[in-house]
Amino acid sequence: MENDLILDVRDLVVRFETDDGVVRAVNGLDLSIKRGRAIGLVGETGAGKTTTALSLLRLVPDPPGVVECEKIELDGKDVLAMSVSELEEVRGKDISMIFQDPMTALNPVFTVGEQIAESIFLHENVSRQEADKRAVEMLELVGIPGDRAGEYPHQFSGGMKQRVVIAIALACHPKLLIADEPTTALDVTIQAQVLDLMRRLREQYKTSLIMITHDLGIVAEICDDVAVMYGGKIIERGTLEDIFNHTRHPYTEGLFNSIPNIHDRKARLTPISGLMPDPTNLPPGCAFAPRCPYAVAGCGGPQEEIAVSDTHFVRCSRYKEEGFIIRRRAAETASMSIQEGKESDNAGGGSWPHSAKSLQAEGE
Ligand SMILES: Nc1ncnc2c1ncn2[C@@H]1O[C@H](COP(=O)(O)OP(=O)(O)O)[C@@H](O)[C@H]1O
Ligand SMILES: [Mg+2]
Repeated sequence: MENDLILDVRDLVVRFETDDGVVRAVNGLDLSIKRGRAIGLVGETGAGKTTTALSLLRLVPDPPGVVECEKIELDGKDVLAMSVSELEEVRGKDISMIFQDPMTALNPVFTVGEQIAESIFLHENVSRQEADKRAVEMLELVGIPGDRAGEYPHQFSGGMKQRVVIAIALACHPKLLIADEPTTALDVTIQAQVLDLMRRLREQYKTSLIMITHDLGIVAEICDDVAVMYGGKIIERGTLEDIFNHTRHPYTEGLFNSIPNIHDRKARLTPISGLMPDPTNLPPGCAFAPRCPYAVAGCGGPQEEIAVSDTHFVRCSRYKEEGFIIRRRAAETASMSIQEGKESDNAGGGSWPHSAKSLQAEGE
């Protein structure tokens, strides 16, 4: 029976042992992704997103990094048990990563065609000639004329360089693509083009995706599922609809409230007050408690995942209290929600006000 999960991670712990103390970057993270799904890994800078991604490829720098994990299974294969040469096989072919900074991901002394071809040549049993030909096809696939394959990275704009990076990442049709803030360095127009490209490529190749971002707008555009990270843990996870329209964790609520309302320029941003906790000295219990408007004494205790539904989980002990619910900004001003069933506005029963309008509807 073919494994339904492309990725299955259990109890990932990563710490960096530095001169200034032990940085607790990832603290018991579970993550499973169904084949063909796209999950958004969301959180502020320092939440542990990049470290999580690097762990999956076994690329966390050691020292100072120490990785402990019960299980990392990629397409049914045990990544933790792999030798260096097995890992090199898997990287690029089964799992591929677009790094945070596209400008440093390309080698200035090789042409873009050579760099794409190299990945194909390394991983697939093809001749140099065939690899070169496929490289040109990949360039065209990401919207760059094939006759530019002989040019060097500095001859391309930022947006085009990022598309070259995507072409390299997709050249061997990886089963799982990790994109770490792939559009952060790009301006808004180019950002939209790159996202559109990723969406089309995903449809074409059925690639599973981990989209790392702090931008919930990007998540809404491209992801099926969402995992929100804080202090090295996933504090809320669910489908796009669960997270956007039935937000449960106070931190997730804070993230939504800190988005400007694109339809009301006068609307105020409500940034989350306070700073991320010092990762060398995380508070016991909920790491968000010091910034949380709902915090009570019990938040210093253990925070297990509580099931909201079959697909939706939250790590907030306040949900053990009967009737507890956050007040995510009222529908009239909510800047972001996604379209769900047409009747949802009137759906009774749930404790959540199902009144948030969809982005599409708001535009009318
Ligand atoms: N090589 C490293 N050495 C020491 N600390 C690190 C290193 N890499 C990351 N960290 C720390 O680990 C924490 C998580 O970082 P990171 O995974 O980059 O978060 P994110 O990608 O969510 O911004 C941060 O506190 C960061 O400073
Ligand atoms: Mg990062």
